[in-house]
Amino acid sequence: MRVPLIAGNWKMNTTVGEAIKLVKEMLPRLDEIDGVEKVLCPPFVSLAALKELIKGSSIKLGAQNLYFEEKGAYTGEISPLMLANLCEFVIIGHSERRQYFGESGELIGKKVLAALKVGLKPILCIGERLEENEAGRTEEVVTEQLRSSLAEVKKLDGLTIAYEPVWAIGTGKAATGGQANETISLIRHFISQLYNRSVAQSLRILYGGSVTASNSSEFIKQPGIDGALVGGASLDAKQFLSIVKQTSEISQTR
Ligand code: PGA
Repeated sequence: MRVPLIAGNWKMNTTVGEAIKLVKEMLPRLDEIDGVEKVLCPPFVSLAALKELIKGSSIKLGAQNLYFEEKGAYTGEISPLMLANLCEFVIIGHSERRQYFGESGELIGKKVLAALKVGLKPILCIGERLEENEAGRTEEVVTEQLRSSLAEVKKLDGLTIAYEPVWAIGTGKAATGGQANETISLIRHFISQLYNRSVAQSLRILYGGSVTASNSSEFIKQPGIDGALVGGASLDAKQFLSIVKQTSEISQTR
């Protein structure tokens, strides 16, 4: 049984003060919802303060990026070791990192390995762009992203994949539950070829891209979708709570 996971990707939003306020708005109701892993991914600068705030609760933290080296002359970067005692998860290879910061599959692969090495749980993002989708290249693109990012990864323990079609991110134009489930099935099938069936069956695969409180159940109800990576709607306490609650209810009926 795969425990569903809802992660809030706050992106480059919230000052430390705003981050504290947002978490206070969600606590303790978020804490009470069970049957779902709840992960908040604020900007780096808020991790320490939020770690204190959520102490003793069932809420977990994630970072939005890292660099693969442990330490050294890499001005402006944050290492896996620095994150290891601040959070449990880390988003890697988000399409915004690929698009605006030129991150390649190879670099993303190094980050995944570095995260796993210190016990961080990567949420590896993959997804096709609009023109690739329209050209019928979705499967080719996502499998190539997986191949390059997992090339050196022997064990997937702790790893989660987030399928986020780029055309659905921040656009209000989400995929349908059926579309997302279909691509996620292809991803799971590819993972079973790369590793084996039992690895593929226990791997969590999330959907991300314009998930809101009004459409989240459409995704969560799909048999192959194990939760969501939520951007914009995760900055709204009410909506995020509602998404997590709906996920909990659906998971109980499975
Ligand atoms: P969105 O972002 O929910 O705002 O579309 C999702 C993401 O980028 O992870």
